[in-house]
Amino acid sequence: MKAVVIREFGNPDGLEVVDLPVPVPAPGQVRITTEAIGVGGVDAVIRRGTLAAYGFREGHLLGSEVAGSVTAVGEGVDASWMGRRVWAFTGLSGGYAEQAVASVEDVLLLPDGLTGADAVTLGGSGVVAHFALDRARFAPGETVLVRGAAGSIGITAVQLAAKGGAGAVAVTTSSAERGTRLRDLGATHVLDRSGEGGSDAPAGFDVVIDVVGGPQLSLFLDRLNPNGRYVAVGVVGGQPPADFGMRLMDAFRKSLSFATFSSDTVPGSDRQAVRSSQFDDAVHGDLRTVVHEVLPLDQAVLAHRAMDAGKVFGRVVLAP
Ligand SMILES: NC(=O)c1ccc[n+]([C@@H]2O[C@H](COP(=O)([O-])OP(=O)(O)OC[C@H]3O[C@@H](n4cnc5c(N)ncnc54)[C@H](OP(=O)(O)O)[C@@H]3O)[C@@H](O)[C@H]2O)c1
Repeated sequence: MKAVVIREFGNPDGLEVVDLPVPVPAPGQVRITTEAIGVGGVDAVIRRGTLAAYGFREGHLLGSEVAGSVTAVGEGVDASWMGRRVWAFTGLSGGYAEQAVASVEDVLLLPDGLTGADAVTLGGSGVVAHFALDRARFAPGETVLVRGAAGSIGITAVQLAAKGGAGAVAVTTSSAERGTRLRDLGATHVLDRSGEGGSDAPAGFDVVIDVVGGPQLSLFLDRLNPNGRYVAVGVVGGQPPADFGMRLMDAFRKSLSFATFSSDTVPGSDRQAVRSSQFDDAVHGDLRTVVHEVLPLDQAVLAHRAMDAGKVFGRVVLAP
């Protein structure tokens, strides 16, 4: 089968299309003939070699999220899965391939009317957006800021906050054109990456959902209202300054909260329940997915170049 591996850490040209043996599902796993493969920011981080200390090596087969049809089941898996169209989480490896394996607990039936591309755009990121707002104890009427809203996590967070009755949904983004697209999805105020602009934006926010992190994180802590909650879900802008916690202590009398959130800490059955409900919402048009571009699997290098150039709004999808 055709697959894409990291021949050499670094820029996208280090990706290589190779022929690999078709994987055999282990006990508890299914094999999926892929029709859509999600390309995530974390794939670029692994490709650059940034996570080599965590055991990622050259030769790694990228990809964690696929959609397609079940074509084999491992021992102990109900044969009724055969032929079903599914979404699946493959872990941090194995997705960029014509055939992928996943544990049956990480597989979800696709509802009629949902494309594979939509499924891999919403499947992982929608759950992060949902539970991040939940951990922030977001309530109707509150003001929300989504920092780094132009990716698939932010795009869903904006929609969920708007539908949840937020008093205002501000976003940070890098261009007016993106701001217009985010307004169309429910944003009420558009700020630049530093949090400036949007002259009529609220001075403070009850909830911040942050996909970016990085050196400017402290600036956004300052934007929390008293009793405000800040939930960090990503680090696309790098790690925050080591002393950012002092900002919270300096604002002691505002009773602020800072949390990291990883969907790994949510029980699998809860993740699947939310994912299933979001897939239904997408079918009915109640939740929109933004597929930036669908490229052939063997053009994964173009997908990574687009990500590195900051050109992706939503998600790039590979189609074998
Ligand atoms: N918490 C979890 O459970 C979980 C699960 C999966 C992934 N993640 C994490 O989520 C992140 C990826 O999320 P995503 O796919 O939604 O994001 P993304 O598409 O990679 O990035 C979102 C947006 O952030 C902005 N951005 C990029 N670099 C920036 C910088 N240096 N400073 C300020 N803004 C910047 C860009 O928008 P503009 O150009 O418009 O500013 C970009 O479109 C990764 O850190 C990944 O590890 C977390």
